[in-house]
Amino acid sequence: MTTTYGSFPGARPRRLRTTPAMRRMVAETRLHPADLILPAFLREDITKPVPLEAMPGVVQHTRHSLRKAAAEAVEAGVGGIMLYGVPEESKKDATGTAGTDPDGILQVAIRDVRYEVGDDLVIMSDLCLDEYTDHGHCGVLDAEGRVDNDATLERYAEMARVQADAGVHTVGPSGMMDGQVRVIREALDAAGHQDVSMLAYTAKYASAFYGPFREAVGSSLKGDRKTYQQDPANVRESLRELELDLAEGADMVMVKPGLPYLDILRQIADAVDVPVAAYQVSGEYAMVEAAAARGWIDRDRAIMESLTSLRRAGAGMILTYWATEVAQRLNRGE
Ligand code: PBG
Repeated sequence: MTTTYGSFPGARPRRLRTTPAMRRMVAETRLHPADLILPAFLREDITKPVPLEAMPGVVQHTRHSLRKAAAEAVEAGVGGIMLYGVPEESKKDATGTAGTDPDGILQVAIRDVRYEVGDDLVIMSDLCLDEYTDHGHCGVLDAEGRVDNDATLERYAEMARVQADAGVHTVGPSGMMDGQVRVIREALDAAGHQDVSMLAYTAKYASAFYGPFREAVGSSLKGDRKTYQQDPANVRESLRELELDLAEGADMVMVKPGLPYLDILRQIADAVDVPVAAYQVSGEYAMVEAAAARGWIDRDRAIMESLTSLRRAGAGMILTYWATEVAQRLNRGE
């Protein structure tokens, strides 16, 4: 209720915006380094890091540079790292064999990072076949060229076992196959990996904002993923996916992409009692960097504002390619 005294405004919300200290004190949302998760790519056939054109500042790592990046993340207080393997082109095949090779590139990444940082960072791995298949889909194909849900589940179970054997703390199933969470949970438990947790990509949309990621993993995908990833038009199916993932044993759930899906994030955060993550994806990163490079946007402010918005909409954790940089800025009190 607004009261007025004579001709003066009775309420002055601006009083609480007068100084940086006042704004800091009344802030409802804060970012913390431990809430940030750094996605990182290890590429097989390279001797020095390869910069990604569409993601300035992000590289495909060598084994050496990946270990260094993980150590830096720990130093900055980052919460976790999400690992992706980029195999040699010649190792890709129809079923994504390299994804279940105990010495495949993602398993190498997990072992290296675990060796480097131990338990000081939550080590996560992308559990999906698209980096390893020659057709670029997230699963295996049937005779008609469709992604075969149940045949893919068998591959995911195998992937979960080798990733856990390599020392991962948390697997991140991102393929959007029906029943993937249950199959992976059972495979982990049966292999004695009861303590390996799962961050399920629960609401993952078929999004144009993954564009730059395809360069990052050297994806050979032609076409799209609309028969398995969700339609951007829908919200109710996210709630259904959420229900299923929780029933199947997901420990944490994720919404992806981030900024275009704040409404989904808010609804999911309100509906669950497990930790909720948001993924600020490659295209979101690229848009800010591209506009900033042209002087069209204040890069540092845009980064902080977008991350704060994801937190405000309900994300407890945020996957962001800026994780280490932002953690360092937060540590400096910026
Ligand atoms: C699937 C996967 C993708 C991303 C993360 N895991 C690509 C896709 O679903 O097409 C995208 C991440 C990003 O764009 O930053 N392995």
